[in-house]
Amino acid sequence: MKFIVLILFIWSALFGAKVVAVDERFQQSQSCKACHLQIVKEWEDSWHAKSHYESDEYLRASIDFVSRKTRKSLNAVKVECATCHNPRLSVTNTGIDYEIMAVMELDKGSLVNKALKSDAISEGINCVVCHNINTIHDEADETKRGINRVEWTKSGTMTGPYDDAKSPYHKVEHRDFMSNNSDKLCFVCHANDKSTEGFVFTNMQSEFVAGEKKCVDCHMGEKKMGVAATLKIDNGKLKQREIREHSFSGGHTPAMWQDALALDVQQEGKDLLLAISNPQPHNIPSGFGSRELIIEISYKKGFSEVESKTISLTNHYTSKRDKATIPHLAESSTKDGSIPAKGKKVIKVAIEKNATNVEVKLFYRLVNDEVRSLLELKEAIWSQKSFITSKSINLK
Ligand code: HEC
Ligand code: HEC
Ligand code: HEC
Ligand code: HEC
Ligand code: HEC
Repeated sequence: MKFIVLILFIWSALFGAKVVAVDERFQQSQSCKACHLQIVKEWEDSWHAKSHYESDEYLRASIDFVSRKTRKSLNAVKVECATCHNPRLSVTNTGIDYEIMAVMELDKGSLVNKALKSDAISEGINCVVCHNINTIHDEADETKRGINRVEWTKSGTMTGPYDDAKSPYHKVEHRDFMSNNSDKLCFVCHANDKSTEGFVFTNMQSEFVAGEKKCVDCHMGEKKMGVAATLKIDNGKLKQREIREHSFSGGHTPAMWQDALALDVQQEGKDLLLAISNPQPHNIPSGFGSRELIIEISYKKGFSEVESKTISLTNHYTSKRDKATIPHLAESSTKDGSIPAKGKKVIKVAIEKNATNVEVKLFYRLVNDEVRSLLELKEAIWSQKSFITSKSINLK
């Protein structure tokens, strides 16, 4: 018995989330500005900087919804989601004691409430999330993500891509997952996101088709020459380095969608064959559930439209009570609507009789109608369509 307890103890010591407090001098990106201004500015505009309750309407509405439907306290849900959305939180789970305190409104001065109000987490996924990762436990169970998959460095030690960097402000250490093997860093969180029912609704790691390009090549731009720090450390001059952007642009940036997929339209008798191919190494849409592709077909006679049709490619989620729900409460989903990584999907639609030509347009939307209305999302960004590509053909 003692032996088993000991093994369990070692196991949890190895893989359990261990909190390391971050010294105030490093907590916020503000304190990096003096020497890394450009990087801080790029990161500020990224969605990693908005990954927390206060800054993302969709996340906030989802957390509120999960709390309401599961009757868990709001803070307990916040802590759960912080696993990936806010990994420097100083508490990693809450438990039944906290639920009782919360119901009786005795939780005001509790560690959980203090942690959630702390300045240390007000920036979501900031510099000291990625650059304070010491080890990534790839050998751990694949459901362990975010905070449960990493160990932190001592406060003040930054891990980075270079093996010869020196800084007067902080210690530096090179890590492979900051340079050659950086996909491993992204997969700490961009994989295996599952619902309260244990249903995995997204897994970028299992769908990823590895090729020449890594995540950072497309989402932090190609390497270019510049400076990593604006401090004259190279014999009184700025040190030239290969650097990348910290913009992490993705689905929320409409310009990124231009030509992200390819579209081919062919006539086959009385039908149209719409072939959508995906040259990217992960599915599209991917990542978060409830994303959507929209196909708009306009049948024309000369220049005037005689008929139009809209097709939605998305996933719909069902709760254990058989109701439409959001990914985080799903027990199951409809067949995956996304275009597979490096693959294609062909859709057949009947041609409108009187038409002489047809125009097909492809768009992307961050949230489908169903989830947008369940969560009552108000901001324009969630319903806005980003243009991907279009194609016109004459009909025989
Ligand atoms: C989501 C993870 C992530 C976050 C957040 C992040 N970085 Fe990085 N950073 C990286 C990766 C990955 C690289 C290495 C890219 C490469 O060379 O392939 C890097 C590289 C760097 C470098 C080396 C120079 C360069 O641009 O390549 C510096 C300096 C740096 N980061 C500072 C910061 C600062 C300051 C912040 C906060 C404003 C920050 N990083 C936030 C992942 C992150
Ligand atoms: C007083 C200036 C200064 C401040 C403030 C500063 N740094 Fe640095 N940092 C540097 C210098 C200098 C380097 C080395 C650059 C080089 O070798 O090209 C560096 C390098 C880095 C690297 C790359 C390390 C490597 O080995 O690849 C990271 C990551 C980094 N800093 C993160 C941060 C973060 C995060 C903060 C804020 C909490 C911060 N720095 C604040 C001066 C500073
Ligand atoms: C600590 C967890 C974590 C790590 C590590 C991480 N991400 Fe993220 N990432 C997130 C979360 C959470 C979001 C969603 C934020 C939001 O929309 O509120 C996100 C969003 C994104 C987006 C979408 C941005 C948009 O505009 O749609 C991209 C692209 C992205 N991450 C790329 C990367 C890359 C590349 C890496 C590896 C260098 C990485 N991430 C590492 C958690 C992480
Ligand atoms: C060859 C380039 C390429 C590589 C490599 C790549 N992506 Fe993407 N990714 C894209 C494109 C193009 C899109 C669609 C437009 C956009 O959102 O940028 C996209 C979209 C995304 C989105 C938003 C998905 C959605 O449907 O809303 C996330 C998150 C993301 N990528 C993360 C990653 C991560 C993590 C990796 C590494 C495992 C990665 N990407 C590798 C090109 C790439
Ligand atoms: C395993 C890590 C992980 C956990 C745990 C997690 N998320 Fe996320 N979440 C992500 C990543 C990575 C993204 C970005 C994916 C993308 O943009 O495609 C994301 C994106 C989202 C988005 C989309 C935000 C946007 O701006 O479009 C919502 C909403 C969301 N998560 C809600 C939640 C809620 C609610 C919880 C807790 C019940 C939670 N997440 C827990 C990793 C996680």
